[in-house]
Amino acid sequence: MTARPDPMNRGDKPPRATRVKGTVNEKATTPIRPQVRPARGDDIALRTNWVALLLSLMSNDSSLRIVADLRDWITAAPAGAKLPSTRELVARHGASPVTVQKAMRILSAQGLIESRPGVGTFVRAVRTARPLDYGWQTAALGSPHNRIPSASPTMRTAPPGAIALHAGYPDPELLPERLVRTALTRAARSGVAVSRSPVAGLPDLQAWFAAEIGSAVPVGVTPPTANDVIVLPGSQSGLSSTFRALVTPGQPLLMESPTYWGAILAAAQAGVRVIPVPSGPSGPEPDELARAFEETGARAFYAQPNYANPTGAQWGRERALRILDVVRANGAFLIEDDWAHDFGITTDPVPLAALDDAGHVVYIRSLTKSVSPAIRIAAVIARGPARERILADRGAASMYVSGILQAAALDIVTHPGWGTHLRGLRQQLRARRDLLIDSMSEHAPTAHLTATPPGGLNLWYRLPDSTDLNVFMRECEDRNVFVASGTEWFPAEPAGPFIRLNYSGVNPGAFPDAARVIGEVLHRAA
Ligand SMILES: Cc1ncc(COP(=O)(O)O)c(C=O)c1O
Repeated sequence: MTARPDPMNRGDKPPRATRVKGTVNEKATTPIRPQVRPARGDDIALRTNWVALLLSLMSNDSSLRIVADLRDWITAAPAGAKLPSTRELVARHGASPVTVQKAMRILSAQGLIESRPGVGTFVRAVRTARPLDYGWQTAALGSPHNRIPSASPTMRTAPPGAIALHAGYPDPELLPERLVRTALTRAARSGVAVSRSPVAGLPDLQAWFAAEIGSAVPVGVTPPTANDVIVLPGSQSGLSSTFRALVTPGQPLLMESPTYWGAILAAAQAGVRVIPVPSGPSGPEPDELARAFEETGARAFYAQPNYANPTGAQWGRERALRILDVVRANGAFLIEDDWAHDFGITTDPVPLAALDDAGHVVYIRSLTKSVSPAIRIAAVIARGPARERILADRGAASMYVSGILQAAALDIVTHPGWGTHLRGLRQQLRARRDLLIDSMSEHAPTAHLTATPPGGLNLWYRLPDSTDLNVFMRECEDRNVFVASGTEWFPAEPAGPFIRLNYSGVNPGAFPDAARVIGEVLHRAA
């Protein structure tokens, strides 16, 4: 294989940012405490309306008397029974029509009755607040083969005014917003708006994904073709499909540790046995990986060679080649998750898929975070029977991906403005990354940054060993700072108390405040 420059980040230390876009005109004060939020918005809203109504009627005993009377009547009546007319109720209770109507509104807000204009008012079919019993489902479903959480706390929406360093989705100001809006408008006007796209994706988009890898392929390696590409509605479902397609339930799947929580989740859902392989700032040790293959008989390894979530690690070329050799020697697949391909800061990513033409590397590339979380397009590139298995799984899971989203994504990434956007994004990410690192060094010096990431969106900090992560998280949240507990990124027990801080969210001007809160919470706990 021809020599390529080492992609590892040994380059000179980047200059520190002096100003981050978004740090001006934003609220950079100490965050306010979060408001206690209702557990279930709809219920609370309903109850609040009802209480407001009730209060306004407290002085009106007649309405409440009518409500009490009708409640008894409703309880005894069958669902769907018609209530007496307003005129009858006026006569029966000796009250005015306004008073009767107020009573009806209370009963309606309580969900006991419904009125059908021009027909009458009826007892609602579901009209009691008795707890519903789904106990029979426990017997029908049995035990889950894997007890898995339904969603990660990183997907929580932080309350307004909070400093959200926990989530993974970029601030809209980091997205090519103008290109996105124009592309969606164009796609909506074209034929894709009213047609079904092919199962593997729009041919031009397939060709674009293949060409992206092709541009990094050295002499002597055969690049992938458009036909090797399967377009996905986001790479998360691609991970699920790939794990299902390549690893039989109960069989081992090697994974870096720490690694992306969504991959751990997808593996658990696919019923495969996750085997953690320790991975540091330069990736996993090839010897360690070889031992794991040998001991477990695994035939697949899931990894993020470029800007790993959560550590930001990038494998050097030397290590990448050795790992590829280990994978080949074990007749195995490397499932390469290139989620952060567009987020290089001080280096450029070189996909391992560009170095393999024997079908060992199954490559997944996402555009979700660089194009738009609303245009959720990704692709898997696989060759040989593996590709057929993944395609079959995709067909069963979702048949095909919306043509509008595919056309819009293609429009954006082939627009001349895309390259300009990516160059600007690089500067923005560098400035944000450095601001957060500097803020943490100044205000939370006991938190240890494991490595300065050469790309990606996250910083991975090890907290002092004595830190109780649950207490730490709670105290930060009480002060309106949301960080992600590192525990989720470990396929087995965490190797220590880690947190992940994402520097791509809204309001980077608040990074110093967030770091101050983190520092104070750590200081108190020490
Ligand atoms: C490493 C990694 N892989 C895959 C995904 C899922 O990406 P998508 O939004 O394209 O489904 C994420 C999302 O955060 C990620 O961090």
